[in-house]
Amino acid sequence: MLFSFLPDGQVLAKGPANPGHGALECADCHDSAPGTVRQQVQAAVAFGLGLREAPPLVGRLPVSSGVCLDCHERERDVHPTRDFVEPKYLDEREEIAAHECLTCHKEHSGRHVANTGQYCYACHQNQGLIENPIQPTHPALVASERWDTCLRCHDYHGNHEWVEPRTLEDAIDGRSVLRHLDSGAPLYGEKIEPASSGRTR
Ligand code: HEC
Ligand code: HEC
Ligand code: HEC
Ligand code: HEC
Ligand code: HEC
Repeated sequence: MLFSFLPDGQVLAKGPANPGHGALECADCHDSAPGTVRQQVQAAVAFGLGLREAPPLVGRLPVSSGVCLDCHERERDVHPTRDFVEPKYLDEREEIAAHECLTCHKEHSGRHVANTGQYCYACHQNQGLIENPIQPTHPALVASERWDTCLRCHDYHGNHEWVEPRTLEDAIDGRSVLRHLDSGAPLYGEKIEPASSGRTR
């Protein structure tokens, strides 16, 4: 698949930019792979002849979460990817790879978030949510597997000036949440830490 980058650095468009990324250059995310193009092509030939175990990276490196964090480091992210690398989250990682941005933000999809946001169960079904003054209570929501309600009151990264509502009547309606996950239309109010338009590391 990496061959869709032509050796002279030209690339074939992959799909629509995700919401917020329309003004970015391809090279903002796609770093060049080490080695000259000729070395990479030689390595590719070696792979084709069975002399190499893995196909080489021709032209570009895969885009890692580190690239995203170069522009999106949020000091106060309540679900930072770095936490979920820890061994104690092995089981949870199998349910949802919350240690990688691309699990939820597939680039070139044109979508803000690539899933329906109902993966909270992977970590919060056993976490013994404390009895907050909300109606219905958290334990009741968990018992009835109402994972569709979580994002109606919470923003996942906690990066907005948002006060969680206390009742489902006051919460955002489910359809607006799905629309937000699709188009990124604003939902939770002012951002606390906006992205930087250039890589900072
Ligand atoms: C916001 C970051 C970002 C920007 C900007 C971006 N890409 Fe990507 N691109 C990704 C990610 C993430 C992937 C999928 C994971 C991977 O292959 O590393 C990807 C995958 C690709 C692939 C497929 C590579 C493969 O191995 O399947 C191509 C081709 C591609 N991008 C081309 C482009 C082009 C052309 C542009 C500019 C118009 C561009 N990208 C801009 C992040 C970005
Ligand atoms: C070169 C800097 C840069 C890189 C690299 C980058 N982004 Fe962005 N991103 C931005 C900017 C600028 C915006 C629009 C402003 C904003 O939303 O704060 C944005 C917007 C977004 C949004 C939508 C924000 C919203 O509220 O609508 C998401 C989600 C996002 N980026 C995720 C990612 C992911 C995942 C990666 C890695 C594949 C990535 N970004 C790589 C700069 C970057
Ligand atoms: C397990 C799923 C998941 C993972 C992993 C994830 N996100 Fe998100 N992200 C979401 C959801 C859901 C939203 C929409 C709710 C919101 O706006 O907070 C979102 C919103 C965003 C936004 C817009 C709100 C803001 O904080 O500015 C940005 C930017 C963003 N994510 C970047 C990232 C980056 C960068 C990574 C990796 C370091 C990442 N996300 C990892 C689920 C995820
Ligand atoms: C990969 C595991 C994981 C997933 C998936 C996950 N969380 Fe969490 N969440 C945590 C951990 C760990 C904490 C921190 C708990 C603590 O400090 O006691 C946390 C904290 C929180 C908090 C408290 C934040 C604060 O301000 O302190 C809220 C609210 C929350 N999660 C909601 C959600 C929602 C909603 C989803 C689904 C969209 C979700 N979580 C998915 C692991 C996860
Ligand atoms: C009706 C709105 C509402 C819904 C629905 C909701 N929450 Fe909450 N949640 C809150 C409020 C309000 C708080 C307390 C926030 C504060 O401390 O100010 C909270 C707190 C939390 C906390 C932090 C608890 C602690 O230990 O302090 C977690 C984790 C959490 N919610 C997860 C979830 C998950 C997972 C779901 C989906 C099953 C969910 N919430 C559904 C409103 C809601």
